[in-house]
Amino acid sequence: MMVCEYKPGLEGIPAAESSISFVDGQKGILEYRGIRIEELASKSTFLETAYLLIWNELPTKEQIAEFEEEIRMHRRIKYRIRDMMKSFPESGHPMDALQASAAALGLFYSRRDLHNPIYIRDAVVRLLATIPTMVAAFQLMRKGNDPVRPHDELDYSGNFLYMLNEKMPDPLAARIFDVCLILHAEHTMNASTFSARVTASTLTDPYAVVASAVGTLGGPLHGGANEEVIQMLEEIGSVENVRPYIEDCIQRKAKIMGFGHRVYKVKDPRATILQDLAQQLFAKFGHDKYFDIAQEMERVVEEKLAHKGIYPNVDFYSGLVYRKMGIPTDLFTPIFAIARVAGWLAHWKEQLEENRIFRPTQVYNGRHAVSYTPIEQR
Ligand code: CMC
Repeated sequence: MMVCEYKPGLEGIPAAESSISFVDGQKGILEYRGIRIEELASKSTFLETAYLLIWNELPTKEQIAEFEEEIRMHRRIKYRIRDMMKSFPESGHPMDALQASAAALGLFYSRRDLHNPIYIRDAVVRLLATIPTMVAAFQLMRKGNDPVRPHDELDYSGNFLYMLNEKMPDPLAARIFDVCLILHAEHTMNASTFSARVTASTLTDPYAVVASAVGTLGGPLHGGANEEVIQMLEEIGSVENVRPYIEDCIQRKAKIMGFGHRVYKVKDPRATILQDLAQQLFAKFGHDKYFDIAQEMERVVEEKLAHKGIYPNVDFYSGLVYRKMGIPTDLFTPIFAIARVAGWLAHWKEQLEENRIFRPTQVYNGRHAVSYTPIEQR
């Protein structure tokens, strides 16, 4: 057996062969199934992109119409899931509510038929359709309101904003939100995707796969960073405070949220698209000083840390976009999950095609031959 050097964080170690997405971190390129992210962001929709990721081809007119209709028909959540969610503490984090709710779906669909394409399609539809409803429902229920039923006339993103805000969405906001979902839908072997594939490799059900990935996405070094970006921008408070704040972080060796990436050593292409979307939103709905603070941060961080390859990542501008849409900060990561479920499901399906259970090894650095000390002698 080949003996490999231990790499903390498994940096640079391939965990799977995959044809779902590709990143060139030096050139700042991201492709889904070979198509550049810039092209998908300007021409596609989230559901079409999800279809592409999961089934490896852009759908025909008939295929996308059928897929959209199936999703539309499955958007409602079961009363029992809704009742369960009502019993969650209002003070709980919406990511925890989402993780529990996604796992609970598995209680209702416990039959596991992983080699049957109909089972796979049903699970894909159910998860893509209900996760936005669960996120919106928890948001309303923790405010003491009843959840809003999905609106059959609205598309995927428009319907989510409608269920969340209890009013018809602005068309530009809905389109921008849809592009945000496209940008977050997939990103090679990140922590939550790895978690999804490990869980999938045990041949458990797809609800457990998604629930474990949601749990992994929640941490501040992964999906949770966009929440922290907003807190940081609020703490900085003015363009003048940017430079001292960054200098202080660098001096304390503290990470600046929304910057740096394990793979990108140039500006994340998704950050460039999001920056442009933020500008469009501010042009329509009014200027925001936090955008100026963000732009200044980008300038100063580049000046100070470009030599280490530290540039804005996807989380830097996404929070600003969601904030301008009036979305509460602690929903940013659940929204990331709404998008990333497409990528997780694509990886679930791909893992099943050539499955081998994950069972890595470890480098043991503990003691040997230690004798048991009776409790009264410790
Ligand atoms: N601010 C300041 N310095 C940084 C940052 C940052 N955000 N990120 C990395 N560095 C420095 C780090 O201090 C280290 O310097 P040195 O070599 O002198 O010790 C060097 O760059 C390499 O950093 P690392 O921590 O070894 O890099 P990593 O690949 O392990 O971490 C990261 C990647 C994303 C966890 C990290 O950049 C980070 O914590 N960023 C802030 C949190 C964040 O924005 N996360 C969202 C990531 S993108 C979306 C997602 O994956 O969900």
